[in-house]
Amino acid sequence: MKRKVYLASLPNGYFGSAKNSWGTLSVERLTSSFPTDVYDINFISITDIPEIEFNSDDTLIYTSLYNNEVRSYLKDILYYVKDQCLIIPSYEILLAHENKGFQEVMRSQFNNVDFSGQYVFDLDQIKIPVPFVLKTVDGSGSSGVQLIKTAKDLATVKKNANQLPLKRAMKKIIRSKQLSTESYSLYSYFYKPFKRFVAQPFLEKLNCDYRVLVIEQRFYAMRRDVRKGDFRASGSKKFHHNKVPSELLDYAKEIFEELDNPFISMDLALKDGKPYLIEFQGTNFGSSVIRRSVGYYCKTNEGWEFLEKESLHEETLSYGLLSYVERKNA
Ligand SMILES: Nc1ncnc2c1ncn2[C@@H]1O[C@H](COP(=O)(O)OP(=O)(O)O)[C@@H](O)[C@H]1O
Ligand SMILES: [Mg+2]
Repeated sequence: MKRKVYLASLPNGYFGSAKNSWGTLSVERLTSSFPTDVYDINFISITDIPEIEFNSDDTLIYTSLYNNEVRSYLKDILYYVKDQCLIIPSYEILLAHENKGFQEVMRSQFNNVDFSGQYVFDLDQIKIPVPFVLKTVDGSGSSGVQLIKTAKDLATVKKNANQLPLKRAMKKIIRSKQLSTESYSLYSYFYKPFKRFVAQPFLEKLNCDYRVLVIEQRFYAMRRDVRKGDFRASGSKKFHHNKVPSELLDYAKEIFEELDNPFISMDLALKDGKPYLIEFQGTNFGSSVIRRSVGYYCKTNEGWEFLEKESLHEETLSYGLLSYVERKNA
C-alpha cells in the first residue's frame, strides 16, 4: 500500500509563500521529490480536510495564510487531525505563525533559553524594565516593532493603546456618574481595549541580524544590516552574504532540533559572541534567502561547510518535506 500524502491549498489554489507573498508555489514541484511508487499524492483544498478520514501513516501538508480568519479556521479544523496523522507544519508552528506571542511561549520551553520576553494582552501588565523592544504579535518588516527607551515612552504607548472609540468613551463618562467606584472599575476593565504585545529585552548596539533558513540538513544564511539611524534590520533589504559565524549556525541547528518541522526560518542576533533568537516562522516564510544565496551551509564532521549550489525554491522545500516525512516514518 502506498502512503497517502495530501497537499492542501486554499480554495483558490494558493500555497504560500512564493516571491510575492500573494503568489503561489507550485504544488506539483513541492511534491516532485516524492517517489510515486511509495507515495500517493493528492492535491486538495483546506476546506476538504473535515471530510477526510485520515490514517496514522498519512501525511497532510497544508498552507497557512497571514490572514487571522483563515489561520483561526485552520487551528479549529486541525485540532483533532493533528493526532490522527502527520501534519506539516506542526500544530505548534501553526499557532506560532504570525504570532510572536506563541513564539515566546515556545521559547520558554527550549532547553537553552536565550532570553525571556513578556507576553501580555494589557500594556499595564508590563514588568520588564526599560529599555525594551515592544512588538505587536503580528506584522513583518519591522512594522509593529518599537524601542521603549524610557518610562515616558511606555506611558505614551499605553495612552494610545488604551484609547476607546468615541461612542464608547462617551458612554464611559455617563457610566462614571451612574456607577459606584467598584462597579465603575469593573465596567472600565470590561471595555478596556486589550491587544496582545511581546516585550523583549533590548539587545543594544546591534549592527545587523541574521536570517537563517534551515531546511532539514541545509542551512541558508545571510546577514542583514540595520537601517541608518534605526535599531531594526528587518525590512532594510541590506543583505550581505559574507561568511556567517559558526556559533550562529550551531545555535540555528539547536533551535531547529527543538522545533519539530521540516523548515524553520529564523532571525538571529549575535551580541558579544552569544547568539539570540529574535523570531521564527515554520510556514509561509519569505524565501529571499534561498533565491539570493549562491549556496548553503551543511554540518560535517569537520565543521560547517559551504556548498556552492544554486537552489530552486519549490525543489528545495520538496527535499525538506520528503526528508522530514522519511525521518518521521523511520
Ligand atoms: N530584542 C531585540 N533587541 C534588539 N533588536 C531587536 C530585538 N527584536 C527585534 N529587533 C530588531 O528589530 C527587527 C524587527 O524585529 P522582528 O521581531 O524580527 O519583527 P518583524 O516581524 O517585523 O521582522 C529585527 O530585524 C531586529 O533588527
Ligand atoms: Mg523579523
